[in-house]
Amino acid sequence: MDAFVVTGGKHLKGRVRASGAKNAALPIMAAALLADGPVRLKNVPNLADIRTMMRLLRELGMKVERQERSGDMILENVDLSRVAAPYSIMRTMRAGICVLGPLVARRGRAEVSLPGGCAIGDRPVDLHMKGMKALGAKLEVKHGYIHASCKRLRGTEMYLGGPFGSTVTGTANVLMAAVLAKGTTVIDCAACEPEVQDLSRMLVKMGALIHGIGSPRLVVEGVDRLSGAEHSVIPDRIEAGTFLVAAAATRGDVTVEGARWNDLFALVHMLREAGAHVEHYDDTIRVRAPDRLRSLDVTTLPFPGFPTDLQAQMMAMLTAADGISVVTEKIYPDRFMHVAELNRMGAGVRKEGNAAVVHGQRRLSGAPVMASDLRASAALVIAGLMAEGKTTISRIYHLDRGYDRLELKLNRLGAYVRRIKEK
Ligand code: EPU
Repeated sequence: MDAFVVTGGKHLKGRVRASGAKNAALPIMAAALLADGPVRLKNVPNLADIRTMMRLLRELGMKVERQERSGDMILENVDLSRVAAPYSIMRTMRAGICVLGPLVARRGRAEVSLPGGCAIGDRPVDLHMKGMKALGAKLEVKHGYIHASCKRLRGTEMYLGGPFGSTVTGTANVLMAAVLAKGTTVIDCAACEPEVQDLSRMLVKMGALIHGIGSPRLVVEGVDRLSGAEHSVIPDRIEAGTFLVAAAATRGDVTVEGARWNDLFALVHMLREAGAHVEHYDDTIRVRAPDRLRSLDVTTLPFPGFPTDLQAQMMAMLTAADGISVVTEKIYPDRFMHVAELNRMGAGVRKEGNAAVVHGQRRLSGAPVMASDLRASAALVIAGLMAEGKTTISRIYHLDRGYDRLELKLNRLGAYVRRIKEK
């Protein structure tokens, strides 16, 4: 297994570009199941999760290739009789559930394994199923698989809110089903995340009729068929945000290209409140940090609130800020696996229910730590950059699921991160 050895104490400086957004690319790839004709995707990041989705779509009878020169991905339906998404693939990547809606809508049937467990807490799919049932699909869970069928889905009105607000992949799934349903569908309490907006724009290019893109009420007029299309995936706001936080945490000066102001507004607001200077032009954001940052209260919320996928990275930064910060998690109440590891490095973080109290002004010291999930891994890398001495982060495969050559990009900014093989 690969590990990172991070030598701390460097101030990050320079320019870096965010890759395409993983969480936009994954449902958009699944949307190709709906197309009569080839789909060409640009700016798809080169990540483990993307390769897993390619494997899943091939299993579902699609031809999926990456062009060597351009990096473009071409997807085309070949065998429409394949409808089974097996556990062997689904257990490693939850976004695989996004094939449910398109399979039922286009092929009339789906057998999709319930996704595997997850280190960030419970991740049910009841809202996905509620939406599919509302559209008229017959659904049954048997032996760990969702069996779904329907000759032609029917438009309806539905409320897709859950105990923690809207659902990102749930909205994506139901939206992809509704575009081929007969009649009009209204999805209320739809997720507004930029990734759902990007999927909606892709579906519109394929011929779908969707109103209210970016709002919590999506109105979909179903059509009989969708064509192939070409689409460039938006840049990854979480990767961009990770660089911005790393810049502030190391008292650096970093300009991130592919950082869309409107997608990152909550983070920018928080960084400014902490005392960092943040400027932007076009899709570029520059962060310059003073020697001392102020403490903050950060609460994760659905978009446009502060993203849960940047909570761990922000917490790492706050371990050195002046004063006491409170980080409250309103999306995944158990997403605090990084707390114990940060404390191993000398942080003063105490978990209190769905919040963490961060006593700042700590000088972190390098230590061996364990990555538990994708964003916790990114937080440990930031902590390693802030720390005195060397930090060895094991199980870096979590990080490779969502960051394209993170160590290379950080090293170009003056960091010293080495990838090693661990037994
Ligand atoms: N929820 C339900 N029922 C459902 C679906 C969700 O109760 O049927 C709950 C979840 O348990 C959670 C909340 O609703 O408490 C929000 O979950 P959501 O469905 O929005 O999460 P997701 O779609 O499974 C996506 C991202 C996650 C990101 C969340 C929240 C993808 C592939 N994944 O997950 O990304 O944290 O939205 O923004 O888009 C990551 O990239 O590291 C990651 C975990």
